[in-house]
This record gives sequence, structure tokens and C-alpha cells, in this order.
Amino acid sequence: MLAGRKILLGLTGGIAAYKGAELCRLLVRKEAQVKVVMTQNARAFITPLTLQTLSGFKVYTETFEADSYQVGHVSLARWAEALVVAPATANVIGKMANGIADDLLTTLFLARGQIPVLLAPAMNDEMYREEIVRDNLKALRLRGIRMVDPNSGQLACGTFGVGRMAEPGEILAALAALLKEGRDLAGLKVLVTAGPTREALDPVRYFSNRSSGKMGFALARAARDRGAEVCLVSGPTALEAPGGISFLGVETAAQMMEAVLREAPGMDIIIKAAAVADYRPLKPAEDKIKKDSSSLTVTLARNPDILAALGRQKPAGQVLVGFAAETRDLLENAAKKLAAKNLDLIAANDVSRGDIGFDRDENALTLLYPGGEREEVPLLSKEAAAHRLLDAIAKIKNRP
Ligand code: CTP
Repeated sequence: MLAGRKILLGLTGGIAAYKGAELCRLLVRKEAQVKVVMTQNARAFITPLTLQTLSGFKVYTETFEADSYQVGHVSLARWAEALVVAPATANVIGKMANGIADDLLTTLFLARGQIPVLLAPAMNDEMYREEIVRDNLKALRLRGIRMVDPNSGQLACGTFGVGRMAEPGEILAALAALLKEGRDLAGLKVLVTAGPTREALDPVRYFSNRSSGKMGFALARAARDRGAEVCLVSGPTALEAPGGISFLGVETAAQMMEAVLREAPGMDIIIKAAAVADYRPLKPAEDKIKKDSSSLTVTLARNPDILAALGRQKPAGQVLVGFAAETRDLLENAAKKLAAKNLDLIAANDVSRGDIGFDRDENALTLLYPGGEREEVPLLSKEAAAHRLLDAIAKIKNRP
């Protein structure tokens, strides 16, 4: 996977810079071509000569240094297939998250174009917990930048905590996975739905559910990162619309249905992760309902099933994927929905477990196929679970 691949390795100023050198050695041993960029602070911890000797290439340090009479940062970015920054200090993370380009590494980051970026944060545990740092990491993740999270252990400052850079072997494995993932969905159109819907009771109140939209948004970002042209139709959530996709915000099940049925015909893949309200108040009140009686009876009307409608009109070659949120008889119920809605795959989600599913950052899924096969996606971040689901969908798409 790594042999012959062109990797840019960025080193910034932390004690873990020596592990960056070890990562360089491991990459070269796997026959990758490694060009190293060091910040000024990195050079306080380890010398360019060490990295030059390990990589076999000149080490880059200055923005305005000529590289065969070409603009250095642009030619390096064009040369590379991936950028890995290990260690990534709180400082470089902050600069990258905010578009500051005051040295070669941060300038290269802005000039990276489509190449994937992997960061291995390393810092003191207090710094890693700091809200500003968390926000910066989140902003980068939302833009498709990947992280190898730091481990916990003894830190250089003597304390124990989370902040110690992942081991070089872990970073190598994450990079290999990232390169393998590649852009296997390039040229495909993917429609994802996410979030809850809201069904008005009166002008100020509504019925809804606990869906946060996190799983659907993670799927949209992951499909984008794998090269797909993505349309995300979402009910109201607290999440930021991912960049580089077409985003359609809706409120009710009826609006979601309209948007989805309009977009569906041209799609290669449709993933319905939204938690659509099955019922809506039959007659929403025109004015705010007053508490002038001791009880209130609301008549609900059934909403149309969007996924079932898509299943009925599915064009040849389109892959249709649903979710099944269940609190009991998970697999039986999911299998019924798979058949009833004419799906190619259903992801069964046990929402009775408190640690996964609705409004959590992690998920565990069981994938069910029409032939009866099953596949487990173990407890993972929603981002990683999204990639596992896309792996399964890409396999279906590539079946002869
Ligand atoms: N779904 C949909 N439109 C609806 C209800 C559900 O498109 N009106 C889709 C969801 O996006 C999900 C799948 O159908 O992909 C299953 O949703 P779920 O809520 O688990 O099940 P329901 O089909 O609504 O059945 P029930 O509520 O009876 O379990």
C-alpha cells in the first residue's frame, strides 16, 4: 500500500518530533518516498540532517526556498499524494484551522488541493482539553482532515494524561488505511438524508425525535472525502453544513419527501439516515394553543414513508440503503424493513443502548443484506462507522 507512494511529512515543534523521525524511517522501510518539511520550532528538537539522512531527500524549511526554480510550496503540494503532520502541536492545529500560512508547512497545507491530510496531535493534557484546541480540531475534522488521536500516558512535562502522540506504527497504519480508502466513490452521485423532522402542533410547538443528525452528516462528509458528489437533505440540527457538498435544509417529513423525490432519480447511491417522523398533527393550530383545558388530545396523521417510495421507483443500478432504529427485536425488525422497502442494505441500530445511536458520537451497527448475510460494524466513532458503511456500499456498487 505504501510502496512508491509520495508522502509529505511535516514535523512541528514538540518533544514527539523524535517519533516523527521514527515514522519517517518506517515509511522509508515500506518503500514510500518521503519528503520532510520542518518548522522552525521542530528544528529546535531535532536536526534537518537526521531527517535528510532517514528520508534520502533534502529537508524543506523555508517558504521562499526555490525548488528547481519552481514555487516551493506549490510544487511540493503537487508532488505529494498525502500530507502527514506528526507531531501536530496546538499551534499548528490552530493555524491550520484558521487559514494562517506563516511558514512553509502551513502554506503547503493551504496549497494542498485534493490530497488527504492526516494529523497526529501531540501536546500537554491541559492544552489538549482546552476548548479552543477542541474547537480547532473539530473545525479541521469537519473539513475532512483526519486525525490519529493522541494516547494517554506519561507526558514530557511529567504528568499523566491524554496528549501523548500516537506511536509511529499507529500513524503508519492510519496513513495506509487513508491511502487505500482513496477516492473509490469518484464519479458517483450520493444522496444522504439526516437528522429528525419537525411536525408543527401550533406556530410555536412541534413533535420531533432525538436524532442529532451526526450519523448522516458523517456519511455525507465521508462520501465527499471519497470523491462522491454529495447532496445532503437534512432536518433541523445543531450541526454545521459540511463544505463541498450541496446542502438542502428541510423541516417536515413532507418537505423532506419532496426534496428527496426530486433529487433521487439521478443518484447512484441513496442513504436514508434521517429519523423521519411517522406521524404529524392532523390539523396544526393556527394560533398558539392556550392551556385552558386540563387535558389536550391531538389527532396525528400518518406521514408518507419516503424510503418505501424510493424503493418502489428504484432505477436499475441505484443502491438504496436504509437505517433501522429499534429498541427491541433489532434484527427481525430490520430484516422486515429491508424486504418491505426494497433496499440493497439496511444498517440496524440498537437505540435502546445508551452508548450509541441517537445524539451520541459513536455507533455500532449490524448490516443486513437481501441474501441474508450479515456484517457487524463494531463500536466506532460515527466517522469511522460511516466509512465502514461506505465500504459495504462500494462493494455492492462494484458487483458485476
Ligand atoms: N423512513 C422514511 N420515511 C418515513 C419513516 C422512515 O424514509 N416516514 C426511513 C428512515 O430514514 C430509515 C428507515 O425508513 O432509513 C427506517 O426508519 P425507522 O424509523 O427505523 O422505521 P419505520 O419504517 O418508520 O418503522 P417503525 O417506526 O414502525 O419502526
